[in-house]
Amino acid sequence: EFIKEVTGIKVLEKQLKDKLNLDYAVVVPGDSDNLDWVKSEMGKACVNYLKDQLIPRQTIGITGGTTMAAVAEMMTPFQDADKCLYVPARGGLGERVENQANTICAEMAKKAKGNYRLLYVPDPLSEDSYKTIIEEPSIKEVLEIIRKAGIIIHGVGDAVMMAERRKTSAEQLRLIKSREAVGEAFGYYFNQKGEIVHKVRTVGLQLEDLKHAEHVIAVAGGRSKAQAIASYFKPGQSNVLITDEGAAKELIRGI
Ligand code: G3H
Repeated sequence: EFIKEVTGIKVLEKQLKDKLNLDYAVVVPGDSDNLDWVKSEMGKACVNYLKDQLIPRQTIGITGGTTMAAVAEMMTPFQDADKCLYVPARGGLGERVENQANTICAEMAKKAKGNYRLLYVPDPLSEDSYKTIIEEPSIKEVLEIIRKAGIIIHGVGDAVMMAERRKTSAEQLRLIKSREAVGEAFGYYFNQKGEIVHKVRTVGLQLEDLKHAEHVIAVAGGRSKAQAIASYFKPGQSNVLITDEGAAKELIRGI
């Protein structure tokens, strides 16, 4: 029975890798929609992957969300990669403090015995404040560090669920719905074809910065997120996916 399960998981990983054009895929057993510990298992799988990839003094950009919080929870010091620097990829995006990239970033650095820098910027931002803030020297410095991060780790969310959780204005929520957004990552909203249909104006990592990173790791699971994950991966923006069986099976079925 155990062997059967392991084989099944390996097959799913291979299928995902091929279908989403990934360098690496990890599928943990179970469905995090129903069981919280499955999210922790994804966190653990992400930390294991990092163990093999991280080098000393590397910069790691991270986003927010409950899945990223689970990654932080599982973080341990890396024997072969000390003095790494953790930075938030983007601002708070209107999330509760425990789900914000800043909070998770500090927690990760503490557990990994690394260093961190934070982004003290309110967001979303008006056009005028945005222009002023990105010229602020202390912010500029952190932004430059973020854009040069060698590793990016991020969550992917269901579009409408994310917009609602982040207390998005009624007007923007209408827009997100009318443009049929299904997925969200880094404050960008994607439709089923993988086109960007909305973007939260905030400082930090922009989608085009991802091409400069060596590893872009998406950590997202749960059957309910399959469509969101598929939309995000349409244009092929990350090269690693850490997910669960619930999402993986649905992804394979749907694409
Ligand atoms: O951008 C995506 C969200 O941060 C994902 O949040 O991990 O709580 O589902 P979640």
